[in-house]
Amino acid sequence: MALKDVLLDELRDMYSAENQLVKALPKLAKGAKNPTLKQLFTAHLEETKGQVERLKQVFAELEEKPTGQHCNGMEGVIEEGKEALEKDETGASFDSGLIGAALRTEHYEIAGYQACIAMAKTLGLSTAVSLLTENMNEELAAANKITAAAQPILKESAQQPEEPKKPKSAKEKYSAQKSKEDEKKAAPDLKKRAS
Ligand SMILES: [Fe+2]
Ligand SMILES: [Fe+2]
Repeated sequence: MALKDVLLDELRDMYSAENQLVKALPKLAKGAKNPTLKQLFTAHLEETKGQVERLKQVFAELEEKPTGQHCNGMEGVIEEGKEALEKDETGASFDSGLIGAALRTEHYEIAGYQACIAMAKTLGLSTAVSLLTENMNEELAAANKITAAAQPILKESAQQPEEPKKPKSAKEKYSAQKSKEDEKKAAPDLKKRAS
């Protein structure tokens, strides 16, 4: 497979990821309690719509169609965000969960754009490089804004009393079981680690 085909796969993944975020960001915005955070998610939704358009321009430039690949990675990251939205935490602690989910999303996108930009540069696709760089810069700025907005929210959350432990839901039990399996599977390899 030529590098251009690898790039097209990556770009189609990004296109799917951005489209998934067009649907997911309003849920984060609706869920956020803190007005600054709410406003950030809403503003980034608008940017995301613009990013979808830029990706379409990249595909037009390459004379290829943007669909063809669903981004499973982003689906998983968004699923984690859904879990944060389902938590019974209140106020700043609830928002702290959303901040974690949102930062994962932004950094997943940044990683994707970094790979695409490096490939497009290697192939000498200068228009694609500049369009993708615009998208990446918006992701970097979004991550920075979320981190800045997080400061007072995390401080407030640290002041909240600890909630009494509630019985786990079926989903939480399944997740806990899977995490134990993750640990068990890794254990033999961890043992082999040179100390
Ligand atoms: Fe994006
Ligand atoms: Fe983003």
